[in-house]
Amino acid sequence: MPIVIFELPDGTERKVTAASGTVLMQAAVSNGVEGIVAECGGNASCATCHVYVDGRHTELVGPPNEVEDEMLDFTAAERRPTSRLSCQIQISDALDGLVVHVPEEQV
Ligand code: FES
Repeated sequence: MPIVIFELPDGTERKVTAASGTVLMQAAVSNGVEGIVAECGGNASCATCHVYVDGRHTELVGPPNEVEDEMLDFTAAERRPTSRLSCQIQISDALDGLVVHVPEEQV
């Protein structure tokens, strides 16, 4: 199973397993990763699962879709070129070792 790493605002890392075919947000929530709120449950309508994809992995993860792109304008923390909604990142074996940074605030 792929392992993904959430780097928290204080610099600590949470390494969790994420099943292929699920989404990154689920891995965070089911492992109690702090800072991923996911109020809407994964419908790309709350922007509280915002993450910054590590620069090494942005090409692999790819860009947001149109709906996600619009929602990213409503994140609590600043939007950056590497911003994604973790509920819209599909986990696959190719993402093993993915690093994402959790923003300071989600609401
Ligand atoms: S969980 Fe609401 S936008 Fe991702």
